[in-house]
Amino acid sequence: MKNLIDIKELSINEIEDLIKVAKDIMQAPEKYSEKCKHKKLATLFFEPSTRTRLSFESAMMELGGNVLGFSSAQSSSTAKGESVSDTIRTVGCYCDIIAMRHPKEGAPLVATMKSTVPIINAGDGGHNHPTQTLTDLLTISCEKGRLENLTIGLCGDLKFGRTIHSLITAMVRYENIKFVLISPDELKIPEYIKEEVLEKNNIEYIETNDIEEYMDKLDILYMTRVQKERFFNEEDYIRLKDYYILDKNKLEKAKQDLCIMHPLPRVNEISTEVDDDPRACYFKQVRYGKYIRMALILKLLEIE
Ligand code: CP
Repeated sequence: MKNLIDIKELSINEIEDLIKVAKDIMQAPEKYSEKCKHKKLATLFFEPSTRTRLSFESAMMELGGNVLGFSSAQSSSTAKGESVSDTIRTVGCYCDIIAMRHPKEGAPLVATMKSTVPIINAGDGGHNHPTQTLTDLLTISCEKGRLENLTIGLCGDLKFGRTIHSLITAMVRYENIKFVLISPDELKIPEYIKEEVLEKNNIEYIETNDIEEYMDKLDILYMTRVQKERFFNEEDYIRLKDYYILDKNKLEKAKQDLCIMHPLPRVNEISTEVDDDPRACYFKQVRYGKYIRMALILKLLEIE
């Protein structure tokens, strides 16, 4: 594997291997502290990020490598009109691997056509976010002890939430996975995900707009924010942004071993009173993200 653009490019065995390496790094980080000595990671972020960019940079540093890059299109020559292709050809002269986020769906795939070094999709528009999915899979594996036999509630902006689209695509390959899709009507999961991913794989799913209706059935509740940056008009965003606010009351019927996840950033969709609940896993999820990205960098650079 040379690049990671879509989670579908990874087989279940490859995901299993990445999870195994990530868990080993967590156990014995010192073994890995010089694995990427003299290697450089470039983070090219044409869209804002806190976790993805900094976790990639932190991951490379913990592997003994170095990092360079930019955190906004405005601070790069994109602002002068440079194309993605030319930017990639240029940056490939300075580094060994690139993590790239771009608002245009498919931009990281286009980048692979011009790049001499591996490209990692760090999020492209409302499309894909494969390293968030790897983070989510490691979180589920560590917190639930399995990736099979799970009822997963996905709540919030299921239309524009790229983390949701990637997670569904990854989870349908595991045994006995059921989804409860919780969203307002306007933010329902796209038809292509229903038809080409859920129905094609005979996955059981229910759609509802009531967050409490199936709460007692869930093993995982994956909350998402309403994606302000993908809305065409502010009024719609304001009307929908606080549609779901998970608080202690709404968790009353939830299982004691529910795992509450969120890719973050959070806006209002999880009340801060939930943060101290032992079932809240979203900050652990942030930490897992660094370890799985370390494993991915090693794999793409073909370092044992
Ligand atoms: N989860 C995630 O992608 O966060 P950032 O947008 O902060 O990178």
